[in-house]
Amino acid sequence: MNKILVVHGPNLDLLGEREPGIYGKDTLETINSLLKKEAQKNNVELKVFQSNGEGDIVNFLRDNRKWAEGIILNPAAYTHTSVAIRDAVKALNIPTVEVHLSNIYAREEFRQKSLIAPVAVATISGFGKQSYILALYGLLNLIKDKG
Ligand code: DQA
Repeated sequence: MNKILVVHGPNLDLLGEREPGIYGKDTLETINSLLKKEAQKNNVELKVFQSNGEGDIVNFLRDNRKWAEGIILNPAAYTHTSVAIRDAVKALNIPTVEVHLSNIYAREEFRQKSLIAPVAVATISGFGKQSYILALYGLLNLIKDKG
């Protein structure tokens, strides 16, 4: 069984009610169930985590560093600001796919810079909830190629 972490950053707990024109009408729970269904089909074990706190995300990554073979990470607003999360991803040296529901490169200028992208293996941005599913398959292929 492959082991993958799914980490959602701040305000993603409000999906469904938060700017549905940008982020869609699905709740985080729906996205997580979709991911779990795909994971089951592919014999993957997921650990899913959401936090609004930068330090909590850093700690979660650190605490699971021996367990995880891959990371699906939507750092949300921390994408654009967090040296701490970038450093954690770099330190762990576990393949990480950066995910965004929206296309951050088609939005405000401050969103067009990601501090995480240079330490991620790939970024998937703009496919809505499918961004997470694409990340899961991309990551699985990568892990299997390596192993
Ligand atoms: C987001 C994009 C970020 O700019 C924003 O702060 C979010 C969500 C996305 O999934 O599209 O909270 O990461």
